[in-house]
Parts: sequence; C-alpha cells; structure tokens
Amino acid sequence: MAASKRVLSGIQPSGQLHIGNYFGMMKRMIRYQEEHELFCFIVDYHALTTIKNRRELEENTLNAAIDFLALGLDPDQSIFWIQSDVPQVTELTWLLSTITGMGLLERATSYKDKTTRGVTPNVGLFSYPLLMAADILCFGGEIVPVGKDQKQHLEITRAIAQRFNKIYGDVFIIPQADINKSSQLIPGIDGQKMSKSYGNDIPLFADEKIIRQKIMSITTDSTPIDKPKDKDSTIFKIFSLFLDNQGQQELAQRFDQPGVGYGEIKKELAETIAEYFRPYREKRIYLEKHLDYVQQVLQSGAQKAEAVANKFLTNTRTAMGLNYSG
Ligand code: TRP
Repeated sequence: MAASKRVLSGIQPSGQLHIGNYFGMMKRMIRYQEEHELFCFIVDYHALTTIKNRRELEENTLNAAIDFLALGLDPDQSIFWIQSDVPQVTELTWLLSTITGMGLLERATSYKDKTTRGVTPNVGLFSYPLLMAADILCFGGEIVPVGKDQKQHLEITRAIAQRFNKIYGDVFIIPQADINKSSQLIPGIDGQKMSKSYGNDIPLFADEKIIRQKIMSITTDSTPIDKPKDKDSTIFKIFSLFLDNQGQQELAQRFDQPGVGYGEIKKELAETIAEYFRPYREKRIYLEKHLDYVQQVLQSGAQKAEAVANKFLTNTRTAMGLNYSG
C-alpha cells in the first residue's frame, strides 16, 4: 500500500447537490479517508466573492456540510470544517500576497471567465486563487483532488509555494493536483455535461417525485422497442454509474436485444437511484433534526484544523521576520 498522504480539498457551497457532483467528486473524496489523512472544508470565504445574501450563504454552507456528513464523511477519521472557522488562512493570504506577482493572478482564467459572465469584479474575486493557495499551504496539503477547472489554481499555488520557499527557506509543502478525468463524462438529462446552471441535473436529495420526473425526461432517441438500443446514449451512461461491472454487462446485453423500451429502463433507473441514495437520504434527515450534533462536529473539526494552521502560520511569520515576541 502507498504511504498515507495528506489529501485536502475545499468545497464550494453551491446549493443543491446533483449526481454529477457525487460521482465526479464527493464519492472519490470520501473514499480517500480510508487510506489517507483527509482535510476537507466548505469554502464560505470564497463563496462571499459571489454570494451577497446572508441567508443564502448560511443555508448553502450548512447544507453542504450536512450533505458531506450524510454521504459518509467521517469526522472521526477526517478533519472537516467550515473555512471561516479557521481565520488563520486570511492572515496567510496576506503574507503570501506580498510575494505574489500581479502577473500570476492576472493570468488566471477563472477571474476572466467569471467577469465575462457578469460577476462584479471585486478585489476578493481577483485574489480568489491566493486565498485558495493559503487554504492548501496553511494545512500542508500534499494531494488536492479537484475538477479540471481548478488546474490553473493549483499551478498558481505551486508557484507561490516555490517562490516563498526560495526567498524565505522551506516552509511549505508543494502540493500536487489530482484531477478527476471522469468528471467531464457525467452527462445531464439532455446529454450535455451535468450542471446545475444548465438545468439538466438530477438532484441528489430532492423529493423523490422530482427526481423521478427528471429521469423520465432524459433525452432518448426514437429507436422502436423491437430494435437494439444505443449503448452510447445518455440513459446508458447515467444508469452505468449505479452499476458494478456485472450489472453494466447485463444492461449492455439488454440494450443489444430487441424488446426493451426506454420508458421501462427509465422506471428501473429511477428505482435504482432511489434505492442507492436511500441510506444517505435517511442520514441526511437525521442530521437535519440534530443540528447541535452537526455544529459540534464542525467545531471540533475547526479546532483540529486550527492547530495545524497555527503551526504553519508561526513558521511563516518566523521565516518572514514577524515573530517579535517569541
Ligand atoms: N476553488 C475551488 C472550487 O471552486 C474550491 C476551493 C477553495 C479549493 N479552496 C480550495 C479546492 C483548496 C481545493 C483546495 O472548486
């Protein structure tokens, strides 16, 4: 077995989760905790760059935390917290900003993408990658599982860490991105990449009726019942997510033979999805009724994270010449 590494990732509190989030990221993250030391946090400081409504931010952040716990993140095995509960990262952000060239951030494509889409360009949005670098470096993250869209942010983080270490000596661990290649491949009900903003997502924890409606409206071709069905279709790809190898082969055989209708397959898929998520859904309902427990988990996570952050921050301050009182 490979040696245990410190795996770290921040999660945007972006509202209702869908099965693309789950199979693209969460499932993989949660699995890391079995063999590695997982550091995982909900990035509400980052969310502030775009969400200006207090209620919305609070709700989305707490919901994201509950989602993760419901899906199996184990607070005894992993360190799980809300980003703003460990404000040390904002101090590190400032310290790092003093060695970060303007050009490095000016080249960040996510800033350009967001402003082109109409997001108001505030200073926080511009410094977004810097806060992310502090997030990673403040806890000594070695492996950072992220989507493809975050690749450049990881490169920026590495560049900042390397520059710091070169000027002030080795304080930071240079992190490595772990890009999930399959996350692009999860199609929504219209066959495009599943995304909440496209409205083609299948939500994870919505009312089962709504989920069923979504599944029934998955785009299919007009192959008649007595002809074989397309195994490259959206319905096949989505169904496959819920099946092991053998299940996938069985489904493929059924698609190859005439006699199966898409309507029938969709009903089965709806049932399969409902069953797959039922235990998580129950756990989620339980957690929602026990918010004091959730709060206690987050508090204790923040304490553990804070201890690690303090260590890196003290080393940083000392290396830079800011540690006057010893
Ligand atoms: N920027 C990331 C995203 O949009 C979220 C994030 C913030 C993050 N801080 C992080 C991811 C640190 C990994 C590590 O998905």
